[in-house]
Amino acid sequence: MAERILITGSGGREHALGWKLQSFDRELFFTPGNAETCQLENAKNMGVQPTEVEKIADLAKDEHIDYVIVGPEEPLGLGIIDTLTSCNIPSFGPTSVAARLETSKAWAIDFMLGQHIPHPTTHTFQEIDEATLHVTNRGWKHVVIKVDGLAAGKGSVVPSSEKEAQDALIRMLVKKEFGKAGETVLVQERLTGEELSALAFSDGQTVVPLLVAQDYKRLKDNDEGPNTGGMGSFATNPPLVSKELLQKIHTTILQPTVDGMREAGTPFKGVLYAGLMLTKGGPKVLEYNVRFGDPETQPLMMLFSRNLLFALQACSQGTLHKDHVGFRRGSAVCVVLASEGYPENPKKGAIIRGLEKVDDPNIQVFHAGTIFKRGKYKVNGGRVLGITAFGATLQDAAKKAYSVIGKHAIHFKGMQYRTDIGIKYR
Ligand code: AMP
Ligand code: GLY
Repeated sequence: MAERILITGSGGREHALGWKLQSFDRELFFTPGNAETCQLENAKNMGVQPTEVEKIADLAKDEHIDYVIVGPEEPLGLGIIDTLTSCNIPSFGPTSVAARLETSKAWAIDFMLGQHIPHPTTHTFQEIDEATLHVTNRGWKHVVIKVDGLAAGKGSVVPSSEKEAQDALIRMLVKKEFGKAGETVLVQERLTGEELSALAFSDGQTVVPLLVAQDYKRLKDNDEGPNTGGMGSFATNPPLVSKELLQKIHTTILQPTVDGMREAGTPFKGVLYAGLMLTKGGPKVLEYNVRFGDPETQPLMMLFSRNLLFALQACSQGTLHKDHVGFRRGSAVCVVLASEGYPENPKKGAIIRGLEKVDDPNIQVFHAGTIFKRGKYKVNGGRVLGITAFGATLQDAAKKAYSVIGKHAIHFKGMQYRTDIGIKYR
């Protein structure tokens, strides 16, 4: 009988995972998916949101799902893996206590202190007066201000003035714009250096790194404009960084994280994603994520050369081995096309044109905020498409991705994208 796989989420990450997993002998179910996830082989979209944990468990039972893969962080924080496990439904991702690495930045800092994992010096506050005094004493140029809980990529402020720093504290601690997520605020030492996304599979014991990837967080070229969920990414095999650095990331960050979680009685199974800053003093953890990155997953899936389902299931079953992970040589670049007004106020409804012009197996258009209505693809969210291309070199891959973007190829009204993905990197 065909294996039945449920993927929860609706972004480019979930489309890329489904694209890699699709097969004639599998059925894929997306909750809720986007305009293209249901066009994959034997795939369907189901109208359930990722945070509707009980509904997903019921659906998985009704549809006799063999394996559930969780894309976003919210359901992991809500305990979707715990719920599925209690229903005997195998799934990929950490339990809610293990997900605290991402769902509470203050908890993660305490954990790193205990495990001697390198990270920026951090103080936590619940009172505005103490926080304000601390920022004034340190100087706004030397701090980054973050809310403790999940904030969809909007909870960290790298202030560019004293006023911006103080405003951030007021929004978090007085106006309570982030609700419970902002009850505790972190004021962190500001680090400088190149940023890197280090993702690794873990079965609770063994850690097998994926390729390191680079994410472009700012809206505009040359890293200007506001922070976003990610405007593009790339990965290369072999990586652009040295073997020594990769080894250091493994032995000082990834492995001690997984070891510490296991020793605390809360083993981490799933994909661990450390957002790193490469400082003069070595790599340091800016944040943990407990799931695949978006848009890092898109290039990673283009290069992944092993059986992805086996690798994911090995994480759940405690049988992970380095042979579960492998990548073809070359590079992949993902350029995100975002809607007008993104990230503050994304506009929906524009017609997406030119999708039919892509006819090259080395270019995949991963959908995110899209909907198919009355015969047309339309914008339905902030990040709309991730144009992802494979090339022998990074330059080839970037050129290919950009070749299908623009007036005479893929475009929509108000489309925003960066022109330096994979071309200029720090
Ligand atoms: P985070 O929400 O922690 O991932 O932070 C979002 C972005 O803010 C990061 O990708 C960095 O560009 C920047 N950032 C976060 N923490 C720091 C820090 N301690 N020093 C410098 N930049 C930071
Ligand atoms: N690319 C950043 C994230 O997935 O959080």
